[in-house]
Amino acid sequence: MQITRISGNEKDAKADAVILPFFEDSLPSSTTGYTQWNTIPDSIRKSGFQGKSKQVFTLHENGKLLLLTGLGKKGEFSLETLRRAYSASFSKFRDSEIGEVLILLPGVSGNEAFESVYTLKLTLYSFDEFKAKKTENQVKNVLVSTEDSQEVLEKAAKVADATNFTRDIANMPPSLGTPKLFEERARQIPDLKVTALGRDDFVKLGMGGIEGVSRAATEPARMVIMEYGPTEEKPVLLVGKGITFDSGGISIKPSQGMEEMKFDKCGASAVIGLMKLASDLKLKKHIVGIMPLTENLPGGNAYKPGDILKHYNGKTSEILSTDAEGRLVLADALSYGVEKYDPAAVIDFATLTGACVIALGNNIAGLMGTDDNLKSKIRDASAKTWERVWELPIDEDFMDQIKSEVADIKNTGGRPGGAETAGAFLRNFVGEKPWVHLDIAGTAWTQGNTVKSCYLPVGATGFGVRLIYEYLTAS
Ligand code: BES
Ligand code: MN
Ligand code: ZN
Repeated sequence: MQITRISGNEKDAKADAVILPFFEDSLPSSTTGYTQWNTIPDSIRKSGFQGKSKQVFTLHENGKLLLLTGLGKKGEFSLETLRRAYSASFSKFRDSEIGEVLILLPGVSGNEAFESVYTLKLTLYSFDEFKAKKTENQVKNVLVSTEDSQEVLEKAAKVADATNFTRDIANMPPSLGTPKLFEERARQIPDLKVTALGRDDFVKLGMGGIEGVSRAATEPARMVIMEYGPTEEKPVLLVGKGITFDSGGISIKPSQGMEEMKFDKCGASAVIGLMKLASDLKLKKHIVGIMPLTENLPGGNAYKPGDILKHYNGKTSEILSTDAEGRLVLADALSYGVEKYDPAAVIDFATLTGACVIALGNNIAGLMGTDDNLKSKIRDASAKTWERVWELPIDEDFMDQIKSEVADIKNTGGRPGGAETAGAFLRNFVGEKPWVHLDIAGTAWTQGNTVKSCYLPVGATGFGVRLIYEYLTAS
């Protein structure tokens, strides 16, 4: 897909389709200039189009498809309004033969060009590798009417491509989306130094968490470490939960809905997507990504409730449920990364708890951590991207809730505060480093209550890629 800026002579642009923005209470000058309308024409208003947010009205004129795109009241406009509204229009290009598109923008806020390109690419994504009939689109040329530079448009395209790359691997069926696949994809990314640890290394290095969880797995478990950028500076460490299928293990889950546990690798998927993005954009940042990858399966040799595992930093955990496995593999990855790379900041992504989904729903990730400065930077990034986060507490009381009689800590603290005790568990493995934990259990794939915003097609959302891109590139 070729994306090009245009500024002036929009009317002469060759295009099969044109996106025309409308407010409920006025028309943006881009639209008045293009159409010569000063208000919504009566005939169109009578057909029900009032410029309300996400309303789309299509019209053919001089061989062009005009997509009148409602943005609601001008005073209530935000970039998320634009993303949702434009994605409603862009979704018309799915399964269409439209090859050339001209995008006009409302011109109310900065970054509209970036957001429109990003949204277009997210909207046209589909995961149809395994379907005979593909959802195709033929969009080849996109013209964006903007004063922003070509470079901005190209950045937006790359951020969206990385998000779609994350979606692709996260959507893989569990018997194909294996630790091996993650390792192979990581090794294909240019400019990364990739190393991988296997079972023997887990035993040798004392990574009892991933060793225990992976004991009954048939797919070989891996801890994949990716390093990018100038190694003189302290890195940002990104760690992602990569349970390629979570059956619960011996504490087996009910079969209803278990297929969704192929998405328990979404944290690792976000991390590999961010490493690809750093490489694509040639970011001048030192970044280390670690993905602890394994299936969580039952078996005669499986780890059991009652077992005690010793993690990389020497702390022991009593297993009360083999279904609280994410924190166990993260414990080793976090403490290994912290010791080995002395990071300036640590961010982990994990589909960690059902409790987080109950607390915050399907549109907001749980944010936990100890460092106010890092937390506020991530909140700032979140406000820009609308990948939403909300803080949950992990103070001493939650640390106490997971103390064990027979080990240093236990891997569940019971149902009360389930997301917080999981965060408190991880806190034992990051030392004094500035650290943020993102529980993406509710946001990593579309579930019952995910906002139907078109730019999130069914399946993995790629949550976290845009958010942390924004954090990494904020000056
Ligand atoms: N991967 C699950 C968490 C999950 C559940 C994410 C549903 C998304 C939707 C995790 O490994 C898990 O099973 N957590 C348990 C923890 C409990 C045993 C303390 C949970 O949330 O029930
Ligand atoms: Mn589990
Ligand atoms: Zn899990």
